[in-house]
Amino acid sequence: MRKKVPKIIVDSLMLITLIITLVTMRGNMIVHTVIGGMFTLLMAIHIFQTIKWTKAMSKNFKKIKPKIRRQYIVNKVLITMWVICIITGILAGVHTLTGIDALFPVRRIHGITGAVAFALTIVHCIQHSKRLIGLFKFKRPRPQAA
Ligand code: HEM
Repeated sequence: MRKKVPKIIVDSLMLITLIITLVTMRGNMIVHTVIGGMFTLLMAIHIFQTIKWTKAMSKNFKKIKPKIRRQYIVNKVLITMWVICIITGILAGVHTLTGIDALFPVRRIHGITGAVAFALTIVHCIQHSKRLIGLFKFKRPRPQAA
């Protein structure tokens, strides 16, 4: 129970910040950048919270079931997409502020990797849906013997 609450908070905030980041991508760039930055921070916490699983899977990669192996591979592609999306997002901001022409292509790369990362995030949530549902299952305390 005590371990689940921080995970529920982080996962829920990730969902909220991701939705706000998406709906502001063609509108309010300040909100998009600030909330996108918050999402990035939450993602780092989420990775830290699940590091044990990742380490165990990479150690036993050859022995694990194909289904878990697929989850692991999707996670790796997902983090790569998010890292490119975040770096190009920062560079898109630098482009806006400085107007350096050479930086123009990063805007497109940012949009594309953002869309791919978002699609993969949905796959990631489906793959780990059991864990997500498990977070909301709390064990009832046993009645005390009289
Ligand atoms: C959900 C995934 C994301 C999508 C689909 C997305 C999409 C976009 C799009 C379409 C633009 C406008 C590009 C243009 O005007 O040509 C943009 C700009 C930007 N995005 Fe994202 N983005 C995402 C996530 C993020 C994240 C996580 C960050 C945080 C680092 C971020 C930071 C930025 C910045 C700094 C800009 C430039 C703002 C400016 O022009 O001043 N984005 N994004």
